[in-house]
Amino acid sequence: MKISDIYKKAVQMGIDADFRSNEYVAKLLERRKQKYEKLSGHEKAEFDAESLTNPYSDTRVLHVADDREIKKVMCGIDIEVGEILLAKELGDIDLVISHHPMGRALADMHEVMELQADIFHQYGVPINVGEGMMKERTSEVARGINPRNHWRTVDAAKLLGINLMCIHTAADNISASFVRDAITKGNPERVEDLMEILSGIGEYQQAERLGVAPRIFTGSPENRCGKVLVDMTGGTEGPPKIYERMAQAGIGTVVGMHISEDHKKEAEAAHVNVVVAGHMSSDSIGMNLILDEIAKQGAEIVQAGGLFRVSRNK
Ligand SMILES: [Fe+2]
Ligand SMILES: [Fe+2]
Repeated sequence: MKISDIYKKAVQMGIDADFRSNEYVAKLLERRKQKYEKLSGHEKAEFDAESLTNPYSDTRVLHVADDREIKKVMCGIDIEVGEILLAKELGDIDLVISHHPMGRALADMHEVMELQADIFHQYGVPINVGEGMMKERTSEVARGINPRNHWRTVDAAKLLGINLMCIHTAADNISASFVRDAITKGNPERVEDLMEILSGIGEYQQAERLGVAPRIFTGSPENRCGKVLVDMTGGTEGPPKIYERMAQAGIGTVVGMHISEDHKKEAEAAHVNVVVAGHMSSDSIGMNLILDEIAKQGAEIVQAGGLFRVSRNK
């Protein structure tokens, strides 16, 4: 496998796991193309042409030092300068994959957040409400990301000649749909039943041993679940006020990777149970399913940067 094969495979797996249909994603790409063709001058120059075929702005090949056959991949949930040095020290790493985005993939991460409005809509929140709330939150996130040092790790990869890419929302879609399918299959009545379902997933079993097992942040084990929303994709946390709307739409429980205090308070006020499944563990699920596909092609996987590696290959 070459880097471009891994990149294409990851994007396609992300589209297949997207809560929106493949047709809808294709329509979005078509809309972007039409908009792009109308641009001119510096607007066109600033436009990321990659986004015409890849719907996830935070999933990108960041640096190709040497486009060789990939036989050994080092993957981490977070890759920083330290991990790049580590890859160099190990000597035989052909590609480093980060889950969390960097470079332009970080600068443009907020663009994937639009998918959250569609997810809320699928669960009964009117699309105008979801879109309105997301617009505000997305611009807040964009402003928050703006001053960051986006290219630092990529610069290190360039200096040391390390191939580097990141797979963010494409992988988070896979985590979300994997957990959603497990919950749908288990059909939990109460929050404790839901916790039982999560404890059957390999990454959460590892998390348990490491002291970061899934936890109930609001609500109690005896509470009825109601409709369960798996909120694990779409860049980062949505707007805190969405919990009230979720409750009105009949969502009783949200399962997420992490939750800020603001969101927790809003969820509590809206009587929505919140289960925090865990950050590194939940991020690992999607990455592991992609890594399994890479491993099937004969590449060795090296676990680093907080990845909880679980292989589902036979
Ligand atoms: Fe993630
Ligand atoms: Fe994450």
